Amino acid sequence: MVDGLLIRNTDGSSSELEQAVALLNSGLGEGYYTLNHISAALLNEKGSFLLVAMLNADLAGVFFGEVSQPDKESPVITKVRNAGFVLPTCYIGLMRGLVVSAKHRNAGVGNALFVSSITEFVKRDVQCLVGTLWNHPQNAVETFFLNTGFAFLGQVTRFWWADSVQYQFACPVCGNPCQCSASIYLKQNIEAG
Ligand SMILES: CC(C)(COP(=O)(O)OP(=O)(O)OC[C@H]1O[C@@H](n2cnc3c(N)ncnc32)[C@H](O)[C@@H]1OP(=O)(O)O)[C@@H](O)C(=O)NCCC(=O)NCCS
Repeated sequence: MVDGLLIRNTDGSSSELEQAVALLNSGLGEGYYTLNHISAALLNEKGSFLLVAMLNADLAGVFFGEVSQPDKESPVITKVRNAGFVLPTCYIGLMRGLVVSAKHRNAGVGNALFVSSITEFVKRDVQCLVGTLWNHPQNAVETFFLNTGFAFLGQVTRFWWADSVQYQFACPVCGNPCQCSASIYLKQNIEAG
């Protein structure tokens, strides 16, 4: 564990949410998320959560998670199914965004957030977890998936292409439209530990 690191659910204050969205967008691309999107998800989408990792008073990292329901499926899960992957029909914990601020990277903050998110998903009674790993060089999240029992299902090319056009976000790796591929990971039976 990282010395002095506190991981908790967001207090929901507008200042903390604004900082969290800014941090998410700094890592994933300006415009990837909006304050409205995150606030509405936390308010209206059953199971959504935002974890913040605090080092002293500093926001060191954030994790955004969603729960896709069988009768109200997340568009991300639909996109994965449409790409030909067979996913269980159940409550699926969806790992939507993990970013650590540049000055706090490579110290274990990302790993700690990732592991904490699994505990949060278990509290929300999901039966499995899905993650879409952004394929860019040395993305440490690949190790996080493999270390926590996720199975690699395969890749989807240009996974964020249409979203980057619709929401006009610039991918930090390749700009707009985003040409990056995603690796799809699945962890089954998480209620069994
Ligand atoms: C990807 C990202 C979240 C990783 O966060 P991080 O805090 O740097 O990650 P960690 O420090 O936990 O792990 C990074 C490396 O440090 C190592 N590490 C160093 N100290 C560690 C510690 N105390 N505990 C665990 N791991 C540690 C890890 O083993 C890992 O090594 P690896 O690359 O060989 O797997 C961060 O680089 C980031 O925000 N990138 C931009 C956005 C992004 O790509 N998000 C992921 C989308 S899928």
